[in-house]
Amino acid sequence: MTGTSALFVPDVRIAADAVAFPELSASFFIASLEKLKSPLVVLPTGNTPLGMYDVLATKYLGRRDLWDNMRFLALDEYAGLASNDARLFSGWLTKVFLDRVGIPVANRTFFQSDAANPVQEIARIQNFLRTSGPVDIAVLGLGANGHLGMNEPGSAFDSPTRLIALTPETIKSGAAYWGSEAAVPRTAYTLGLGDLLQAKQVMLLVNGAAKADILASTLTDTVGVSIPATSLRTRADVVVVADATAALKLKP
Ligand code: PGA
Repeated sequence: MTGTSALFVPDVRIAADAVAFPELSASFFIASLEKLKSPLVVLPTGNTPLGMYDVLATKYLGRRDLWDNMRFLALDEYAGLASNDARLFSGWLTKVFLDRVGIPVANRTFFQSDAANPVQEIARIQNFLRTSGPVDIAVLGLGANGHLGMNEPGSAFDSPTRLIALTPETIKSGAAYWGSEAAVPRTAYTLGLGDLLQAKQVMLLVNGAAKADILASTLTDTVGVSIPATSLRTRADVVVVADATAALKLKP
């Protein structure tokens, strides 16, 4: 895929500050949910969406019509961790969002990090996507290296759900959460770019000055596998919600 293909321009919305960012993110997410009956939703872990989850769990907690009908599918997960490990994305997301708004347990699909047979585990999620997909709403964070989910640089735009080796940059980012690089698992399950690009709507959340360069690259560099997030420009209906500091390097 190169810059010569037909490209789309994402709809970029800029929130003025750290209070407006989660509010704007939450209102776009709610508006997307409201359009759909029983949407299959992919949500990110990380620092970026935390404020949005807080807004959803407070201001929008009463929207039982939305939370009771939403179906959740995990975006990614470290591989090989025990089911009670504190580093699991599933546990984190359960705590910061899914339990708080009360997404029915039967509506939650996670990767099983400690699956005895990773090949079967990947097939299970691929089969889920075939029978219950495609994804309706994919909410994504932007990695410092341009990854989406754990689709690291080099990921093909049609890549499927799979196990992937994390790059040194992602391991370094993970160390900020778990204390040291040694504590960061080396592999992760991730939905593929192919799965994410098929979503009916995509919302990319980006905040903080540290993401200003990669956001500008995502929106203006040549579309290609060295920056997985540039794949978003190969499809329509992508909304980028950024705060003012992340948007600093965007041209007006
Ligand atoms: P962050 O992670 O929200 O913690 O910056 C984003 C990502 O790596 O996808």
